[in-house]
Amino acid sequence: MKKTAIVTGASSGIGKAICATLLQMDYEIYGFGRDFSDASLLTENSAFHKVEMDLLETGKLENEIRSISKGRSIDLLLNCAGVGYYGLHEELSTKAISEMVRVNLEVPMILTNLLLRKLKESQGTILNIASITANQNNPHGAAYGATKAGLQSFSRSVFDEARKHGVKVTTILPDMTDTNLYRNADFTCSKDEDARLLPEDIAHAVRHILEADPHLVITEYTVRPQLHRIEKKN
Ligand SMILES: NC(=O)c1ccc[n+]([C@@H]2O[C@H](COP(=O)([O-])OP(=O)(O)OC[C@H]3O[C@@H](n4cnc5c(N)ncnc54)[C@H](OP(=O)(O)O)[C@@H]3O)[C@@H](O)[C@H]2O)c1
Repeated sequence: MKKTAIVTGASSGIGKAICATLLQMDYEIYGFGRDFSDASLLTENSAFHKVEMDLLETGKLENEIRSISKGRSIDLLLNCAGVGYYGLHEELSTKAISEMVRVNLEVPMILTNLLLRKLKESQGTILNIASITANQNNPHGAAYGATKAGLQSFSRSVFDEARKHGVKVTTILPDMTDTNLYRNADFTCSKDEDARLLPEDIAHAVRHILEADPHLVITEYTVRPQLHRIEKKN
């Protein structure tokens, strides 16, 4: 029988690449996003069910999760949706701060809350896409980095809470990856292929984690390009 995954951020970038890999691994996917216009390879696949909604509509999210998981085993929760706003902290809008905290941290906490009983039943896996910013100081990205450090801390504690039930929890910490994440920044990924990751590199990490021997858990997985370079936008 196919395993079932719930994936946020499925419509673009890293989440989209991970979904393509999960389909190859024969998962059935409920993929959340607001705009799937650039994800036809996923949406044309009958094992991919798109759930087009704003994750910040908490009541609607809760109803969706309850209806998807009713009578069905859930094997994987992958929290990938995220937003980034950068710059001097006093220059961020309060709306941007709230959106980052809610999408990057509150939503994974809520989804874990709603699905943990199911994941215990299936001895399933939670994968949280944090960032290398979780483990460093982030001038011009203090709030973003704090949401990712929060997600890393949350993952560690949930693993300690749920490991005796067979639940595996992994935090994935990617370095700069070539996606649309930097749409709100005055910098972006380097074009040098040794100085940036591709979404497929993170999908490869996910496959590695999911195919690890069942007696072990990869609790944290950092992926970095060989070189460190950032490109300033003009
Ligand atoms: N790119 C990097 O360098 C990098 C490095 C480390 C970690 N990460 C993390 O990787 C994750 C994926 O980001 P990405 O780089 O792939 O960027 P991306 O292409 O901008 O993808 C972000 C995803 O989050 C979804 N999303 C954001 N807000 C949402 C909301 N309110 N409701 C529903 N969906 C929402 C987007 O869906 P819609 O567009 O359809 O709304 C999209 O699928 C994020 O958590 C990011 O922090 C990225």
